[in-house]
Amino acid sequence: MPDSAPHISLADPELYSHGDPFAQWSWLRANDPVHWHEPAELPGFWSLTRYDDIRAAYRDAETFSSAQGILLRPAEHGPDPGGGRTLALTDAPRHKQLRGLVDGWFAVRSVRALETEMKDIAQGVVNRALEMGSCDFVSDVAARIPLYVICRMMGVPESDWEHLYELTSRAFGAGDPLTRRFAHLDILGYFETLQAEKAADPGDDLVSVLATAEVDGERLSPDDVILNCDNLLVGGTENTRIAAAGGMLSFLEHPDQWQAVRDDPELLPSSVEEVLRWTSTATHIMRTAVRPAEIHGRRIEAGDKVVFWLPSANRDETVFDAPDVFDVRRTPNRHLSLGFGEHFCLGSMLARVELRLLYGELLGRGVRIESDGQPKLLDSIVVNGPETLPVRMKAG
Ligand code: HEM
Repeated sequence: MPDSAPHISLADPELYSHGDPFAQWSWLRANDPVHWHEPAELPGFWSLTRYDDIRAAYRDAETFSSAQGILLRPAEHGPDPGGGRTLALTDAPRHKQLRGLVDGWFAVRSVRALETEMKDIAQGVVNRALEMGSCDFVSDVAARIPLYVICRMMGVPESDWEHLYELTSRAFGAGDPLTRRFAHLDILGYFETLQAEKAADPGDDLVSVLATAEVDGERLSPDDVILNCDNLLVGGTENTRIAAAGGMLSFLEHPDQWQAVRDDPELLPSSVEEVLRWTSTATHIMRTAVRPAEIHGRRIEAGDKVVFWLPSANRDETVFDAPDVFDVRRTPNRHLSLGFGEHFCLGSMLARVELRLLYGELLGRGVRIESDGQPKLLDSIVVNGPETLPVRMKAG
């Protein structure tokens, strides 16, 4: 291994708020593409950093299982409670059955049918931010659109949207771990009540689908319904919020790219793809090998944890031309920000439309946005991007 090896600290949350993970990923791609991390606070794990290796492992779901969790967690936290039960944390055949229950809700035609309502939501959120003048783009703009949209799809009454906004902000925002934990428990409690109501009196919404669904002739247990609701709420809000805000930060740092989309709105779809690639908010996704495998001569044993660093794949110089350039005209742009294979992001279409509507609303109205202080980046190995992004917004 070359002498100039940097100290590899990918499991350190501070690397993502104050360090340069891209330098470590770049070195690993070139020199040690299947890197072993010794057990410390986290159990030992393998790191994959190259695009092709991550795609190949994603494709081989029979070897690399999701059922024991898809995120690194300290051994003392025990197994993930969603393991084998939620959409994200099941393998075939159950995964396919669960996904079949909700897939149609996220298909192109369903998302299209929601577009007018989503546009109204985006408009309302932007109006509110313009009235405020100075605001935090993360909590006041980026967080609200995906939250309101997923609440609407799940059948959360509109009178409760603000309550869930408060809870999700506390659960996934800044704050001490205990506050976050309690807020998350409150979210689970909220869905416990909602799923019981929907089971008794189903409506045309996602919680009713889950609360009345049968898999293999059996109803999902209330706990399984609650965990899947949580999975949808978290999946539906967290990454989109950070991607929308991270995208805005990239545009503030590259005003020529903002101007290019403003001059030519036809660039909106490719700029959304570039925002997804560039922000790559899901930092890592984990699998557990259920049988031995070999990658670049390294032997992975059954039971080993294998981690995919998605932002690294998205900067792989063997796949992307000038990968370190933020380019709204980039095409092709086959990033892995939304995963790949059987577990490919359920909400990919929704996320794309939400980003397009938000930026479209800001650009179409000529809203002027300026930085109003230093953004704060998240201290996390799970999701990366802005935790806060102070901005001033003025109507055009
Ligand atoms: C920019 C926004 C988003 C990003 C970057 C993102 C990222 C991802 C990634 C990387 C995966 C793959 C996980 C794996 O391989 O195990 C995934 C799966 C998933 N995402 Fe998203 N996501 C986004 C938006 C959404 C939205 C809006 C929803 C709406 C409900 C959603 C719901 C889900 C669910 C339920 C899964 C699990 C799918 C399965 O295992 O079959 N995501 N997402």
